[in-house]
Amino acid sequence: MSGDETNSARRRFLTQATTAIGAVGTGFLLVPFISSMAPSAKARAAGAPVRADISKLQPGQMIRVEWRGKPVWIVKRTQEILDKLTEMEPVLADITSEVSDQPAYAKNAGRSIKPEILVLVGICTHLGCSPTYRPDVAPVDLGEDWQGGFFCPCHGSKFDMAGRVFRSMPAPKNLPVPPYRFISDAEIMIGEDQEVA
Ligand code: FES
Repeated sequence: MSGDETNSARRRFLTQATTAIGAVGTGFLLVPFISSMAPSAKARAAGAPVRADISKLQPGQMIRVEWRGKPVWIVKRTQEILDKLTEMEPVLADITSEVSDQPAYAKNAGRSIKPEILVLVGICTHLGCSPTYRPDVAPVDLGEDWQGGFFCPCHGSKFDMAGRVFRSMPAPKNLPVPPYRFISDAEIMIGEDQEVA
């Protein structure tokens, strides 16, 4: 074999070897990358629906559960509270929740499946503070017209007992309603609309 042929054979060998190593190297790199994209059991659990026991919820009371790291409130409204929802309409920004977030089945006067049970994500639509539940009527700090609702202490947004924001508040939308369904009269599944087989 001449010197030129030897050099050319060596170059071919080196090129093939480099390509092979490159392919193996890429293979090694891809495995951890792909497995890091697969959702972990923890991540799946964090997004999973949550059961809430409402069997001991008294009229006027609120309980909190956590879903996807967010507070979700469940309030049992009395008939008196429900009657006042219509009275609140003149001071509300989005009465029928046209620009606010809720599942289709909660786009109604009470923003709920059952009128007496209200389910809301407890995060202010302004900058994300958690409003306080203020069911008391006409308290000194909120004024004579206050008929009960939710008050955000960060910048003063007010919401009625359906989570609907008052006009001229920093919060642009009503408090969101998460997807949910009733498992029974005593239990709600938060984060899931339909029964999963
Ligand atoms: S975060 Fe609620 S009013 Fe600003």
